[in-house]
Amino acid sequence: MTNSDFPGSELTSVLAEPVSVSWQSPSNIALVKYWGKTWRQLPVNPSLSMTLSKAFTETRLTALPRITEGSVELDFWFEGKQNTAFGERIIKFLQSVTDIFPWLSQVALKLETHNTFPHSAGIASSASAFSALALCLCSLDMELNGVLLDETEFRQKASYVARLGSGSACRSLFPGFTVWGKSKALAGSSDLLAVLVSEIHPVFTKLKDTILIVTDKEKPVSSSEGHSRMIGHPFAEARIKQATRNTADLLEAMKTGNKNDFIRIVENEAFTLHALMMTSDNGFMLMHPETVRIISRIQEIRKETGLDICFTLDAGPNVHLLYFEDQIEQVNKLIVEDLLKNNEQNMRIDDFYGKGPVKIG
Ligand code: DP6
Repeated sequence: MTNSDFPGSELTSVLAEPVSVSWQSPSNIALVKYWGKTWRQLPVNPSLSMTLSKAFTETRLTALPRITEGSVELDFWFEGKQNTAFGERIIKFLQSVTDIFPWLSQVALKLETHNTFPHSAGIASSASAFSALALCLCSLDMELNGVLLDETEFRQKASYVARLGSGSACRSLFPGFTVWGKSKALAGSSDLLAVLVSEIHPVFTKLKDTILIVTDKEKPVSSSEGHSRMIGHPFAEARIKQATRNTADLLEAMKTGNKNDFIRIVENEAFTLHALMMTSDNGFMLMHPETVRIISRIQEIRKETGLDICFTLDAGPNVHLLYFEDQIEQVNKLIVEDLLKNNEQNMRIDDFYGKGPVKIG
């Protein structure tokens, strides 16, 4: 599959009036991590994520009439303000998908977007941002050109397009759990787009993710930079094998409802991600002392109390505490009285298993 599998058409006449579409699209948290890629976000290993619920981006994309054709013309608004820094990444992305959406050079675009979560909170904003934008592009394509796709084709195309913007974004197009990257353990899985994991034990559809904010400061090394440190990494080959096995084992654990295997694999992935950062050439560390204290406490408490809690980490210092609905009260008490008790930020975001993007206009 290539961009030419999604052939687009130009507008046959000049756009007469503005056309807008709006989508809400969630972020996701990786349980098996995507870390390392080849050209244009093709992953070096399969990853598996849970779509979140409360952390989402709302995006409105408007196509406006334009007299002369040319390169992409974008007016970008983030949180109600014109934003040029992120706007440049978006323009580059839009220029890279003009073969899928040839009308991009025939209209002027206005993009208005905002997030329901603070920047640098340990939630992948590029995942929700690029999935929302990809959905808007696919919807506008239907409106402007009358392209008709069924629901499955539409989501697949949006996932493919989102991947070109940010790898992890392609996993946000579906409810619940998603795999991106070829895995023998899941029929239909692909490096080009994400697929829904449909065989999930009900216990995992009640999964909670409370993000314990250690710091909301900008991280010193971006994910894109982190991916590039996997090129020539001394442990690259072993990592690809490990992620492939972890994906298969996690799929099995989630099918059968095996919480112990789930906990073991999820924490193994979080530790591995950060170990890979530390052991890369020019190694770096994104965990803070407070991150280490919290994750050590989570492991101790699990041993002491038998609660089914575990952690995962994104490429940053904030801790995602994962737990199940039936233990919500005990876990809440633990967060307040123990995990965040001496924490300066004392900030948390309570998120959970999400149902996927929603068209809002
Ligand atoms: C650690 O998707 O942000 O969150 O493709 O360069 O945009 P780009 O990277 P990005 O990387 C996410 C890395 C991760 C793990 C994951 O989400 O799987």
